[in-house]
Amino acid sequence: MPQEVRAVIAPGKNEPVRVETIVIPDPGPGEAVVQVQACGVCHTDLHYKQGGINDEFPFLLGHEAAGVVESVGEGVTDVAPGDFVILNWRAVCGQCRACLRGRPWYCFDTHNAKQRMTLTDGTELSPALGIGAFAEKTLVAAGQCTKVDASVSAAVAGLLGCGVMAGIGAAINTGNVGRGDTVAVIGCGGVGDAAIAGSNLAGAAKIIAVDIDDRKLETARKMGATHTVNSKEADPVEAIRELTGGFGADVVIEAVGRPETYKQAFYGRDLAGTVVLVGVPTPEMKLELPLLDVFGRGGALKSSWYGDCLPSRDFPMLIDLHLQGRLDLGAFVTETIRLDEVEQAFERMHHGDVLRSVVVL
Ligand code: APR
Ligand code: ZN
Ligand code: ZN
Repeated sequence: MPQEVRAVIAPGKNEPVRVETIVIPDPGPGEAVVQVQACGVCHTDLHYKQGGINDEFPFLLGHEAAGVVESVGEGVTDVAPGDFVILNWRAVCGQCRACLRGRPWYCFDTHNAKQRMTLTDGTELSPALGIGAFAEKTLVAAGQCTKVDASVSAAVAGLLGCGVMAGIGAAINTGNVGRGDTVAVIGCGGVGDAAIAGSNLAGAAKIIAVDIDDRKLETARKMGATHTVNSKEADPVEAIRELTGGFGADVVIEAVGRPETYKQAFYGRDLAGTVVLVGVPTPEMKLELPLLDVFGRGGALKSSWYGDCLPSRDFPMLIDLHLQGRLDLGAFVTETIRLDEVEQAFERMHHGDVLRSVVVL
């Protein structure tokens, strides 16, 4: 039986989001209906609302979520009703060239649930990142659900569904940060702070946080940064070099997504070091670098997509580390809010007041 639940909808470009009743169909083959318990508010939700992703309004927002599987469709064996799960953006096929080469985050043939959720008048909804979890329940592909230890709070677990995983993964998966490495993180919002926490977890010897806002640098220290640089006051490239014996950092993680901060990352790394771009640029941004510097400095210029994570490997591992007290995921939750407070949360995000607002249902 289709069910009616409350959900946050972005009705049209730049219009305020609002809570509406939506209709969730029964799960079809390979699908699951999940009772959402918590869903973080991410920049990408705001981009959807602003029409920056595409114009397939109305959107069902929310994509950083955890909850309990309520029912599953035909052929679903990996998760069962009652399982506590974290949702991820894409159910990968496991068979395409990208999947077979161990890079399922670039899967060519994702099997997300078909968009079948609607408003009560039948208008089809576009779920953000194939999830749509600012809702009491949502319909996803079973392959988007990863079971984790149910003793963790849902507000904390949901964070791994997007921003925090992207940041931790940028350090431990893409950047391959290892014991004794020096790391610099440029941009210390939720993603940059997660990259700091990930670098700390990986045993980095020095973690240099760079931001233009002293409040952010203070939080970065709590996340594990050993040094901070306000790049409004000091040249960050010089400062990183100075803090690394004149060399530059082994790994520099750019978590802003702008050409000028990318350049700082590029020149702030050691010869043969690694630059990881995890901040998301806009389509019109261009980067100009002397090609000789690209050649002469060697190393690796990488981008990190969803933290290059494997949900089935990384989600349970990070939840375990959190439960053991070795990774404080709770530090990323600035506030918990209700479904009808998402619009105000966007406002606070815009002003840089929060790491994460998390809707708790
Ligand atoms: N130099 C250094 N830091 C900067 C600069 C700059 N020129 N401009 C902005 N920042 C800092 C901000 O002060 C803030 O602390 O970058 C941080 C950005 O953080 P958030 O806005 O909270 O964004 P976050 O959620 O961390 O995401 C960062 O990753 O996923 C992408 O779309 C996301 O591009 C964004 C990036
Ligand atoms: Zn695939
Ligand atoms: Zn997100």
